Amino acid sequence: MFGRDRVEYKTPEQVAVMRRAGLVVADALDAVRAAIAPGVTTAELDAVAEDVITAAGATPSFLGYHGYPASLCVSVNDEIVHGIPGPRVLQPGDVVSVDCGAVVDGWHGDSAFTVVLDPADPADLALVATTQDALWAGIAALATGDRLGAVGGAVEDVVEEAAARTGAQPFGIVEDYVGHGIGTAMHQPPDVPNYRSRDRGVRLRPGLCVAVEPMLVRGAQDNHVLADDWTVVTDDGARSAHWEHTVALLEGGIVVLTARDGGAERLRALGVEVATL
Ligand code: MF3
Ligand code: CO
Repeated sequence: MFGRDRVEYKTPEQVAVMRRAGLVVADALDAVRAAIAPGVTTAELDAVAEDVITAAGATPSFLGYHGYPASLCVSVNDEIVHGIPGPRVLQPGDVVSVDCGAVVDGWHGDSAFTVVLDPADPADLALVATTQDALWAGIAALATGDRLGAVGGAVEDVVEEAAARTGAQPFGIVEDYVGHGIGTAMHQPPDVPNYRSRDRGVRLRPGLCVAVEPMLVRGAQDNHVLADDWTVVTDDGARSAHWEHTVALLEGGIVVLTARDGGAERLRALGVEVATL
């Protein structure tokens, strides 16, 4: 959707405002995570997020985006992304992906997580853990790589390693939806694909801010949009997971703006120290 043109490189002061937006998103997602349980509706989760965002003096960025009617996307089971909150009641064993965005003083944060409700199918837990690992490997590649294409390569490596370790079929990587630049708009150039590509992508340099967001499926990546014009589901009905963080590149390294610790713990395990803002 986006080429490599018109990348908005941010100053450290602008990144500091994005950090405020990122922490609001982190707070909203923490509140949603605490509220998720069988019997709860996805609309109730949306209300929880919206309350946290507005109480912080921030604005939900999804609400009204191309007519989108909610503050969260809640995508359950075979829904990959863009599930609209509503009367759906969460069930035991559901795979629930929650995506949230907020704006502070015109600057955006965007993040998502996936959780499996008990009793969890071990294959669903593996899907969710591998997607989270793929996210962090992709983020680490922003620190260790020299081109943006390093992210997709790292995601693919994690998926292949997971399959080799378990002897199972590799999870499918959804290619139709990608990460993106982020700043004064939620979606900006450049695209951040979750797969290896011949296009090595833009040079990784200070000021670049991107949302990394792998989506993995237990089956084939083929998908379609439901009649509500938003909800993206797998064609084969297999379950899907989605994890996302907003990341800033600074002179001193990277910071994960939507992680409370800036990503320090997960990135240290991958040999990457986060920068200070
Ligand atoms: N947050 C999604 C993304 O990660 C986009 C949500 S689309 C919206 O890019 F319409 F729901 F806002
Ligand atoms: Co995003």
